[in-house]
Parts: sequence; C-alpha cells; structure tokens
Amino acid sequence: MTTIHDSRFTNHDHDDHKLIHAFGALAELGHEITNKNSFQETIRTSLHLLSGAIGIMRGAAARYSRYAHELNLVAVRGLGDDFPLSLTLTTEDERQFLTNGLHPIEIAEAQVLPFFQIYDVSFADRGLQLFVPLVVREEIVGALFLGEKATGEAYTSYEKEIVCAMGQHIGVAIAQRNLMAEIERHAEENRQLFDEMRSTYHDTVKAFAAAIDCKDKYTEGHSVRVGKFSEIIASELGWGKEEVEGAAVAGYLHDVGKLTVERKIINAPYRINAKESAELNKHPGVGFEILQPIHHPYTDVPLAAKYHHERLDGRGYPDGLKGREIPYIAKIVTLADSFDAMTTDRPYKARRAARDVVDDLKGNIGRQFSPELVTAFLGGMLKELKGETTDKRFRRLLGRDYMEAEGIVEKIRTTLNDVAPTSPMTYVAAAGDILQIH
Ligand SMILES: [Fe+2]
Ligand SMILES: [Fe+2]
Repeated sequence: MTTIHDSRFTNHDHDDHKLIHAFGALAELGHEITNKNSFQETIRTSLHLLSGAIGIMRGAAARYSRYAHELNLVAVRGLGDDFPLSLTLTTEDERQFLTNGLHPIEIAEAQVLPFFQIYDVSFADRGLQLFVPLVVREEIVGALFLGEKATGEAYTSYEKEIVCAMGQHIGVAIAQRNLMAEIERHAEENRQLFDEMRSTYHDTVKAFAAAIDCKDKYTEGHSVRVGKFSEIIASELGWGKEEVEGAAVAGYLHDVGKLTVERKIINAPYRINAKESAELNKHPGVGFEILQPIHHPYTDVPLAAKYHHERLDGRGYPDGLKGREIPYIAKIVTLADSFDAMTTDRPYKARRAARDVVDDLKGNIGRQFSPELVTAFLGGMLKELKGETTDKRFRRLLGRDYMEAEGIVEKIRTTLNDVAPTSPMTYVAAAGDILQIH
C-alpha cells in the first residue's frame, strides 16, 4: 500500500503550527482588507506575521505606483534608515515581473535585471534573499522584500508557498486600496463637476431673472426680489438648504412667461384694459411651457410659474385652483410676489406703508395666502427687526427707513398673535361659553 507522504507536514511539527498560524493570520487579513483606514496597519501586520511564520528578521512590503514606476515602502522591518524608501523599476523589470507573476525570485539569481543591478548593494548589505512581485490581475501592485532566515537555512518550498499565499492577500489589499482611491478620485471629480454645473445653473437663473426684470421698467428688480422673499419664506419654514435654493429659483423664474408679453402691456403706465389683461394673464402658462422642458434640480420650479396667480379661495388664474389644489411652492411664490407688489412703487400706485402691508397680508389669509406662510414670513421680519439675527435681508431689500417705521415691530407682534393657531386652552373656554349660553 502506498500512502501519499508529504514530508512537509509530517516531519516538522513546528511547520504545522506555523501553517495554522499563517492561515489564521490570512483569515484575519481578509477582514482588515475591507477597512480602508487600516490599510497601512494591514500591510504592517501582514509583514509582521509573515516574518514570524518564517523566522526572518528583515523584510519590507511596498506598494507600486504605475505612474511613477516606483515601489514605495509601506512597511519595513529591520532594514535600517538608509534603505531606499522608493525604488524605481525599468520597463524591462516590469515586463519580467509580470511574466514571473506572484512567485518569489531569488535575488542572487536575478542579477540580469536592471532593478537588481541598481539596488545590488542595498540588497546585499541587508542580506535580502527573496523578492516577490505582487502581481494581481496581471498588474504589479507591489512587492515583498524578504531577508535571510534567522537559522541561516534556505527557504523551503513550503515556506515559499506561505510567502505566495501571504503575498496574494497583501496584493489584493493593495489592489483594493488602489480601487478605492480611484473611486474616491472619480467621486471627487463628479462632485466638482456637479458643483460647477450647479453654480452655472444658478448664474443662468439669475441672468434670466435680470432679463425678465429688464423688460419691466416700472418694477425693476421684481423677479430678483421675489426670489429672495421666497428664499426667506422657505428658510423660515425650516426647509433644508437645497429646498430653500429651489424656492429661490422658483421665485427668480416665476414671471419668465412675461418675456413673450408685449413690452407696452407690461410697461403700461395706466391700468390695462380687459384685452391687455388677458394677454398679460397668459404669462403663467407661457412660463410653465418655457420651464417644463428644462431639467431643473428642483422639480417644482415650473409649477411655481404656472400657479403663482392662483388664490386659496379659487378666484385666481389660470385654472382657478383652490386651497390644497395649489402646489405649495406656488403658494410661497404668491406671497413673495404680492408682498413685492405692495412694497414697491407702481406707475399707478405708490408703495404702501409697512404697517398697511402687514394688515393686508393678515386680511388675505385664507383668501389669498396660507396662514403658516404669512406667519413664517412675518416671523422672519420680526426676528430681523428685533436684532435676533444678523441678517438684514428685509432692510436691504426694502430700505432701512421703510422697515424701521414707527410701531412696525408692535404691529407684526400683535398680528402674529392674532394669526397664531388657537391654543387648546382657548377651545376649552369657548366650549364653556357655549355651554353657558345654552
Ligand atoms: Fe406673475
Ligand atoms: Fe410677479
């Protein structure tokens, strides 16, 4: 009877131990490889384990940069300070290492290659014996440098197998790290590209707003202000950065449809007649047509253009939508739009005093404006006037004198109290009244 007799396992008990040790280490490595922060640690640990398993005092693991054609040391053990941290490969070396694959090369027998000639002294001084190119998926990702064994004996074929297995794992760790770096670089590029596109988009929007405003000489800056007021309302509602930006864009572009309305109608220094009014009233629909085919980062932008002249009570245009039928973004722009109309001079109508405007907003709650939007808007105004914020948005848009008119703070405060939702306590009191009456 013949038995398959493998001297590697039966003759050396300590080899068995080494084997278990080495492969246990491999299993641990598998876990570490996925954690990118511990990359350097992984390589160091691997080198440590490999040295321990084979009994060597000196060695190094390097990562290959294929752009620089350099092996850069990641982990070093016992090679001294003057060992080069970076070693260059020639094209010839690269070609030979790729052909060789992930197998140990006896340094003493490889003197024909330029790499071993160039670094001959460095390698000989440290007694380096094996060089292992880490070839993963037909690419050199790194290399191992291994010194002589502590026993002074030659590497056995079994030990070379351990070297290969460990080398494989270290190679994969490096390849994975390279891949991660590549992905991160792409992600960063995309992020930059996205930021650029976004700022281009915003610049375009502002240019558009300026173009719309140019056409209307009496309401100069209207679109820009409506954009800013919409932005204030959205941020007072506690919306996120992107949504606030979206609301601003919706405001900037709400009147884009006016680009197709005749200039003389827009600029009429008198109240326009029915026919002219019908023409002007087409601008929300036209605006929607213009904006709809554009891919906006904020999907609601065309809706704001289409419905910013709707009213909660259904008396608006173009579709006479009521209450909840009106898109939320349109309600925001409606408030911003009306507020600007009231606070700027028109050819047939001077701007109204701030306190009257506050009354008007309050009086039109439920008819034209949503209560929570008026509350948010006036709340933002009050914060600014009371100095609770460093922002001077309202003062900048409307003028300091206008905003700081006598009694305005008190006016807003009482209005906010009146508009605030009834508290449960009031309901109880009201119910009590009713009970007493009956
Ligand atoms: Fe409009
Ligand atoms: Fe408008």
